[in-house]
Amino acid sequence: MTKKILLLSANLLVCGYLLQANEDFETNDISKQFLSKQNNNLSESENEKFILGKSFFRIPWVEAPSATTARDGLGPLFSANSCISCHPHNGAGTVFTKENQISRSLVTRFSIKDTIDFHNGFLPDTIYGSQLSINGIKDVKYEGKPKLHYKKIIEKYPDGIKVILSKPLIDVVDLNYGKLSSDTTITHRIAPALIGMGLIEKIQEKDILIHQDINDTNNDGISGKANFVYDRKSGTKRLGRFTWKASSPTLLQQTASAFQTDMGLTNSLYPFENCTSEQKECLDAPKSRDSLDVPDERLEAVAFYIANLKVPKPIVTKKTTKGKALFSKIGCADCHIPSYTLNNGSIISPYSDFLLHDMGSRLADNGRVEFDALPNEWRTQPLWGIGKRSWILKQTNYLHDGRAKTLEETILWHDGEAKQAKHRFKNLSKNERNAIIKFLGGL
Ligand code: HEC
Ligand code: HEC
Repeated sequence: MTKKILLLSANLLVCGYLLQANEDFETNDISKQFLSKQNNNLSESENEKFILGKSFFRIPWVEAPSATTARDGLGPLFSANSCISCHPHNGAGTVFTKENQISRSLVTRFSIKDTIDFHNGFLPDTIYGSQLSINGIKDVKYEGKPKLHYKKIIEKYPDGIKVILSKPLIDVVDLNYGKLSSDTTITHRIAPALIGMGLIEKIQEKDILIHQDINDTNNDGISGKANFVYDRKSGTKRLGRFTWKASSPTLLQQTASAFQTDMGLTNSLYPFENCTSEQKECLDAPKSRDSLDVPDERLEAVAFYIANLKVPKPIVTKKTTKGKALFSKIGCADCHIPSYTLNNGSIISPYSDFLLHDMGSRLADNGRVEFDALPNEWRTQPLWGIGKRSWILKQTNYLHDGRAKTLEETILWHDGEAKQAKHRFKNLSKNERNAIIKFLGGL
């Protein structure tokens, strides 16, 4: 009997907590669909737009010309044929497939070392452009394939415990259009989970800029710098919020760029095919009937879909509460800013300042610049959903190139401006370190 009462009250407690979720944009769901839940309160026409966007996010695009004109125009060169294939369940990509091949959701990027460009952030390789296309349509050869192996680095805790980190050593092979330019630098990016995208867009610019401290005037070892990037819609520079280096200003632009660069689908923001002037077969390949592969209505619907997905509500237990307090105490929250209040009064908890930080030489790209982001600078990655995507979707590749396989490894890769926080983490007891991992696991 007592057992029953205890169980009952535990359930009520859980219910009490369940009720706390802001139903409009948060979900307690822990099924595989937890990142695919639609925001409440969409009007009927918004609902239609959401459904349209969802379908164009998921469907595989096909080569032109095709009988199904609604979704042709893929390529000529491309990395994948649907958004969802790189962002499975709207979550993050993995480095390797189940068959142990390098996954398409790990993309290989090219840029000419130490160049900055007003419109694109950097200059691309003259033959291959800005991204290695691992696929081509009929009669157009793919560009090449990525190559990847790892070097082991050992991190030791003061209590003697060792953790082995794997540093990626990257290259490209099977190049079908000749050599890369000698000053082209290669880097990897893994597809991040699409969590809270619309809410990030709603954070007021001043609430992000207030955390900037470019010259570290408060002397806490952490600076924080905004990336001002080219916005194709307005033709001006704006605060960058999206991607690993905050080099995209809006969801619309990020969606448009994904259509063009990842899938070879032209649209009003990126109206040109994904071919360089050196790639004749690509330039001569058949085009879709319409002048743009993705008309504005569909482009906007896809951006609208991602903007209106719910974020996971964190799980709160005694242990996660302890971990959360330690997370703040040792300085993780100095960059991973826990929460923001939006204009409509909603409080959101992305755990990021959306600013760039020097993360040390071990994480740095080799000479790649993206607008104001230097090779060693990365946007603080938001942490909402990081735990649930790990245990619900088994997506356990962390950091910009997916090099870390556990949350602990991820923390141990932190360096540069995060050196002190990492040092404090390493000096916690094993129990306290676990509490922080548990806290992240509940997000
Ligand atoms: C070939 C794999 C691939 C495909 C296909 C793809 N993406 Fe991505 N996506 C990525 C990668 C890699 C990044 C990180 C890019 C970076 O940081 O520079 C990313 C980043 C994003 C982001 C920014 C996330 C953040 O945290 O800032 C959004 C939004 C996004 N993709 C939406 C889409 C949409 C919409 C589509 C389909 C139109 C799509 N993606 C197709 C690989 C892909
Ligand atoms: C100086 C700012 C800063 C501090 C302090 C900091 N981080 Fe980070 N964190 C970042 C940046 C930037 C990234 C992305 C780096 C990359 O991808 O190469 C990141 C990434 C992460 C990720 C991986 C997210 C993902 O989706 O892959 C986790 C987890 C994380 N941090 C946890 C922590 C914890 C725990 C602490 C405290 C010990 C901490 N961070 C302290 C800036 C910081």
